[in-house]
Amino acid sequence: MTRKVILDVDTGSDDACAILLAYLRPEIDLVAVCTVKGNQPIENTTENTLRVRDLLKADFPVYRGCSGSLVKTTVYPRIQRTQNADAIDANGEKVHIHTPLLPLPASTRKEEDIPAPIFYVNYLMNAKEPVTLVPVGPLTNLAVALTIEPEIVKNIEEIVIMGGGWNITNATIASEFNIYDDPEAAQKVLHCGAKITMVPLDATHTAYISQEDSDELKRINTPASLFAASQLDLRILVHDQAQPLEVPHTCALHDPLCIAYLIDPDVLQDVKFCNVEVSLGGVTEGQTVVDQRAIQENRNVYFAFRGDHEKFAKIFIDAFR
Ligand code: RIB
Ligand code: CA
Repeated sequence: MTRKVILDVDTGSDDACAILLAYLRPEIDLVAVCTVKGNQPIENTTENTLRVRDLLKADFPVYRGCSGSLVKTTVYPRIQRTQNADAIDANGEKVHIHTPLLPLPASTRKEEDIPAPIFYVNYLMNAKEPVTLVPVGPLTNLAVALTIEPEIVKNIEEIVIMGGGWNITNATIASEFNIYDDPEAAQKVLHCGAKITMVPLDATHTAYISQEDSDELKRINTPASLFAASQLDLRILVHDQAQPLEVPHTCALHDPLCIAYLIDPDVLQDVKFCNVEVSLGGVTEGQTVVDQRAIQENRNVYFAFRGDHEKFAKIFIDAFR
């Protein structure tokens, strides 16, 4: 039984790997991919998504989404991002974990004419069966769609969000990037009423991918596996220098872990049904505040505190075989 999925991406190195994994795994029916600004401006995240579609010779539609956050960039200056995601490569060149344009040929086919939030409303209001949404960038598109038509929730099977952090942050002292980039959008989605599973940095950093995994992709030696390996090598370089994980020469591969969860839920561990709220200002702006008290009201999110790196690596690499 395949699972219908709509990916929402700010393509980036790990978003690209999530698109590859979702398309290549038979368990997933990739209905569409929506783009949003985040790692890069909307022009780049959209072009990068189109390039990955060409690499796969795939036909899923791409819908371009929001170029700015709901309110964050239009009100008084908010807390600035302080985590760097840069490294110095073997040639002494400075590299960033997300290259502005992916090292792939320019796209040959363009996105659809309808903006992503309108696509969400049209598709979900007419869906014949429930769909799983997998937003792995800022949640702006989905927040706009929910504002246009809250009823879309009736055809959402589950929302699997890459975002948030409890013991680990990466954008500011208290926040993870996707939530930090549009905290108001995240708060709106977390309270929309759909089943929500959150895959935070606590899970992605423990479900790490290693240099050996990247080398295995090189041995598989297909255009898709070699591209994925190039993105893993870039991420391992940056993690080693800027965001070291518990094991050296490994990287967090955040976005694909959400897809892996749809293939084998056991790839997420220590999942607790909690009340999660998003801080909207001050030094904690963008923080996912997770209530783990025994007696809780308003539980709204299945929050994964850990991931299984062996299970995840196998799911990811097997997709390319
Ligand atoms: O914090 C990690 C998230 O921010 C990932 O989705 C990555 O692609 C960036 O968007
Ligand atoms: Ca992303």
